[in-house]
Amino acid sequence: MGKIILTGDRPTGRLHLGHYVGSLRRRVELQNSGLFEKIFIMIADAQALTDNADNPEKVRQNIIEVALDYLSVGIDPSKSTIFIQSQVAELCELAFYYMNLVTVSRLQRNPTVKTEIQMRNFETSIPVGFFTYPISQASDITAFRATTVPAGEDQQPMIEQAREIARRFNGIYGETLVEPEILLPDNAACLRLPGTDGKAKMSKSLGNCIYLSDSAEEVRKRVMDMYTDPNHLRVQDPGQVEGNTVFTYLDAFCKPEHFEKYLPEYPNLDELKAHYRRGGLGDVKVKRFLIAILEEELAPIRERRKEWEQKIPEVYRLLKEGSDAARAVAADTLADVRRAMKINYFEDEELINEQARKFRGE
Ligand code: TRP
Repeated sequence: MGKIILTGDRPTGRLHLGHYVGSLRRRVELQNSGLFEKIFIMIADAQALTDNADNPEKVRQNIIEVALDYLSVGIDPSKSTIFIQSQVAELCELAFYYMNLVTVSRLQRNPTVKTEIQMRNFETSIPVGFFTYPISQASDITAFRATTVPAGEDQQPMIEQAREIARRFNGIYGETLVEPEILLPDNAACLRLPGTDGKAKMSKSLGNCIYLSDSAEEVRKRVMDMYTDPNHLRVQDPGQVEGNTVFTYLDAFCKPEHFEKYLPEYPNLDELKAHYRRGGLGDVKVKRFLIAILEEELAPIRERRKEWEQKIPEVYRLLKEGSDAARAVAADTLADVRRAMKINYFEDEELINEQARKFRGE
């Protein structure tokens, strides 16, 4: 059996550089590697509604934003199936059966759910749908028989829970579901790209994001305002590289060839860092370098986005085609699940005959 990818994002806003280095960039590489039999990229609108039930318009508006972000980073609808979660009703039915395989205390221990409950002040009134979204996520993944889930570190507890559910299901009903594996970014900076203010994570509410769809001017401003080393006041002062957002971003984006092109006086990032540590290297110079690198990466993405923005009806058409194709695959898995659980009464001739014999007293 070939390898299959499923991954996705909640449509609660435009996608930013955290999404990009955490998962999007990798998805495009994997897509173009030819190593995967099938690739499914899901816009998780139903999951987004678990904590935005009172704001469906936000989710609705952001579906197209996320789709445009996907297409502009290079997800190619002829190679990857992009679809909308809510259009695949089979996922709900799977989740309904999986709910029997998970305990409340296990869900309460899920670290991602725990932090999200805190972040949203849900402590005293957790929506049941939100609380159980790891189960729904296990349906998303197993419905497509995904072997591989490229995602950020925050998704690790979700994948672990999906694996447990698959294992439990297979243990009870026989080998039916595939246990997925997470594929994390291989570089520490990409694993947890901080916000431009140096805070833990990019988040819309903190206003510390650089969006893939930001203009060159917005990106430049964001980088110029970026948090660096607060004690590096004068150029000649020694500076700290650890926890210095500009250097973390360089760790995530810089390639050897960037030096030749934009900063030929340094052979590589280690030498640039060494100079900064010694003193004598100003923040502005490093920031300008980062801006050049980001621009090189983001300009083509922005260009492609502009083109797709002119073809919105076609984007919806692609999403519809993707959703139809995804639905067929999920229906196939659901049929396997029903068969394994022996709730496929009407296709089970043997059952009907057996019952008939029983009631005839044979
Ligand atoms: N939880 C993911 C997020 O917050 C979105 C998501 C839903 C997902 N289902 C998934 C990711 C399945 C990977 C696999 O962005």
